[in-house]
This record gives sequence, C-alpha cells and structure tokens, in this order.
Amino acid sequence: MLSKERYNAYDTWAWLYNQTMGPAYGQEQLRWLERSLLPQLPSAAQLLDLCCGTGQLIQPLLERGYQVTGLDGSEAMLNYARENAPRANFWLDDARTFSSPIQFDAVFSTSASLNHIMSLEALTEVFQNVYRSLQPSGFFLFDLNHPGQMQKWWRGQIVEGEIDSRYAWILRPSYEPTHHQGAFEVSLFEAPRWPSQSWGKRLMYLLRAPLYRLLSLRRLTRFRLKLLCYFSRLEPDWQRSDLNYPVKGHAIADVRLALQQTGFEQICIETIEGADKIDDNYSAHFICRKGAQP
Ligand SMILES: C[S@@+](CC[C@H](N)C(=O)[O-])C[C@H]1O[C@@H](n2cnc3c(N)ncnc32)[C@H](O)[C@@H]1O
Repeated sequence: MLSKERYNAYDTWAWLYNQTMGPAYGQEQLRWLERSLLPQLPSAAQLLDLCCGTGQLIQPLLERGYQVTGLDGSEAMLNYARENAPRANFWLDDARTFSSPIQFDAVFSTSASLNHIMSLEALTEVFQNVYRSLQPSGFFLFDLNHPGQMQKWWRGQIVEGEIDSRYAWILRPSYEPTHHQGAFEVSLFEAPRWPSQSWGKRLMYLLRAPLYRLLSLRRLTRFRLKLLCYFSRLEPDWQRSDLNYPVKGHAIADVRLALQQTGFEQICIETIEGADKIDDNYSAHFICRKGAQP
C-alpha cells in the first residue's frame, strides 16, 4: 500500500452494528476463543483484537483478567467499543499498516473482518504486521469466508434482517466467482419521527409497532425476511439507505501459504465448532503460532 489509508467504511452504520450484529457475533466468537485460545494463555495475557469493531468480545475477556487492546479503522465503531469495554486500550489504525509498540501473547480477528482486505498481497502485509506484534510463539487466530462457502451461500438474497418500531435493516450477500469478489449490501430503513400526513397513517403506524415487535421472534424469521423483501413498498415513508461492502473470497490454500511464508507455524484450520473438515457449509477459522523468522 503506497499511502497510509484507513478503512473507515463502517462509520455510517456503527450505531446499528453495535446493537445487532456486534452482540450476536461477539457471543459466537467468544465460544470459539474460549475453546481454541484461552486454555493456552498465561493469566493476565496481553491480547490484541484486530478489527475489533464495537468491541463486544473485549469486555468478557477483560472480566477474565486479560489485558486487551482493540484496533479498528472506524472511529464510530471504536466510540461504541470504548463504551462497551471502558477498561480496554483502543487504537484507531489500519490493519494493513499498523505497528505495535508492545508484543502481545495473542492477536485475534473475528467475524470475517479480514475478508475486507482485498488482495492476497495486502493480507500478507496484515500477517507481517501481526507477526511483528507477537511475542515469540504467540498465537494468531482469525476467521475468513472462503470461495466455496461464499459461492454456495452468498446468492444475492436476504439472509438476515430485523424490524424495530424505529428502524429496519436487511443484509444481502452476493458473490462473483470469476474474480473471487463478494459484497454484502446493508439496507437501512429509518422511520419518520411521527407520520403527520393523515390520521389514517398515524393509526397504521400505531397498529404496526406491536406487529413488528412480534416479528422479532426467532420462529418467525422466515416470515420476517419475506416481509423485508417488500419493505420499501410497505413503508414508503421510511427513509431508505443502501450501503455496499466489497469483500474478497481468499482461497484457503493461498492463505495457508501466506501464513507459512510470513513465518507462522502449527497452522490449524477448523470450523467455529472445532471440526477439522472445512467444506462449503462453514467459514474457515485459522489458528497458528509465531515461529522463528523464515
Ligand atoms: C464485520 S466487522 C467485525 C467486528 C468485530 N471483530 C466483531 O466480531 O464483531 C469488521 C470490522 O473490521 C474493521 N476493518 C475492516 N478492514 C479494516 C482495516 N483494514 N483496518 C482496520 N479495521 C478494519 C471494520 O471497521 C469493522 O469494524
């Protein structure tokens, strides 16, 4: 990378990530770290959460006695992270160019953050930065969505979404296999403060609020996602904005080689549940250790 850029594309919807995906992903990834990393660490180990987002993973690690630093390129995401984990350190920086003044016992990067790194060269630069910021034999863990899995599941359809009385959102991932290029689109719908046009509209607004609350039930997910396909037509007064995030489907074999060339050893790849066979159903969770410099 020639100039020092900072990835800040999450600034626009940090408020939404903080109350929806942040807590949900944080819980899932914590279970993975509890199984695959924490039993191997000394107490009070120094940890770096690379691309920490809104930091929901950090507070439970602080509570277990670890010292945690979070790094992210988005200032708005970090502002929420500071609220969620007030005792952590935070660095506003870019994974492709950061350098750390301290050496960590472990660095981790969760929820496919590194799929935002758009080339293998840039991903290798991230690996080199991580390598330099680790203690000898320190651990590096991260997860990635990979081409087979993206081709199978990222089909341009709505896969997640919620409706609240004040806002609604949908997530729609897509994948173009020739260039291993994916994208996820986030559409946000924000309710008007109070529909003033007519009494009829006000009444509908009041009637829909409990219906939307009901739709948040897990067992109504399919119905909710169906409804969200037509949400613009259903709620034409809600303000819609569409955000598009390009991501790269890095091939697992390329990633493994880049890790080896950087000097990482004992590379294991597993599913989030710990199964060692990665197929198109699962994202790939990497665990490796800093070896001697090659
Ligand atoms: C999907 S979110 C994951 C956040 C968090 N790790 C989690 O599990 O909820 C991706 C995060 O990566 C950050 N990010 C992406 N590319 C980055 C880069 N090059 N440098 C720093 N942060 C980056 C984004 O700002 C965003 O906060």
